[in-house]
Amino acid sequence: MQQIQTVKTIAEVRKQIKEWRQQGLSIGFVPTMGYLHEGHGSLMEKAKEECDRVVASIFVNPMQFGANEDLDCYPRDLEADTRLCESIGVDLIFHPEVEEMYAEGFCSFVDMDGLTQELCGKSRPTHFRGVCTVVSKLFHIVMPDKAYFGQKDAQQLAVIRRMVKDLDMDIQIVGCPIIREEDGLAKSSRNTYLNPEERKAALILSQTIRLGEKLVGEGMRETKTLVEAMKENLSTEPLARIDYVEAVSMDSMQKVEKLEGEILVAMAVYIGKTRLIDNFMIRV
Ligand code: PAF
Repeated sequence: MQQIQTVKTIAEVRKQIKEWRQQGLSIGFVPTMGYLHEGHGSLMEKAKEECDRVVASIFVNPMQFGANEDLDCYPRDLEADTRLCESIGVDLIFHPEVEEMYAEGFCSFVDMDGLTQELCGKSRPTHFRGVCTVVSKLFHIVMPDKAYFGQKDAQQLAVIRRMVKDLDMDIQIVGCPIIREEDGLAKSSRNTYLNPEERKAALILSQTIRLGEKLVGEGMRETKTLVEAMKENLSTEPLARIDYVEAVSMDSMQKVEKLEGEILVAMAVYIGKTRLIDNFMIRV
């Protein structure tokens, strides 16, 4: 196995990318905040399949966390992350310090209307500005041919696709399926916050996703009825507190009355203090 290269500066990434470009190699990119799990692993494997070289970034981006969110306790484990990247054959890890990404005086942002206001945007009003800004910066640094994002963060994926289109970034965005634990819980770095009782309670999310899929499969087409049934199911779990359950158009992330076309049914639910998300997509 070739030893993985980990660099901390933008200059080092650019130097390596230039060399690969001179050799005519294609580049796949997986941006992450670290504490990697099989979900990230699946993105890296896909990138490995499709591109000559794979770059992963590990950067807990302060700009996408709100004032009362979990920035300070966000889990980190660079050694384990490096092992996972190495086992998949990632070629380069970019692991910058905050100062490298946001030098003193930093005051330029990438923001978006519309798509960022619904779903997670309601309770996290500055989140997507932070995501768009850091992902734009990372795209400018790595200049990949393809970049890989998980469908668990379906709104993020839609936002990034829109940003790339609107700002003429010549990068193909590849969405990859949600990876779940054996019992159904969607993999997330935040699952580590759950104590054993909460971990059990968290299963209500994937159970509710399955219920929603079943109801749509049986022909339910009224958003209101679907959302009510899903909320009712979530409310059977005493440790669960609903942030939102919504059905939106995949393109615009705006609420729909009827389940027609390409629809995202998404939820955010607090289990204790931990906010978890899950979703499913339908094409009808
Ligand atoms: O999905 C994430 O882990 C983050 O939002 C991303 C895309 C790495 C930007 O910080």
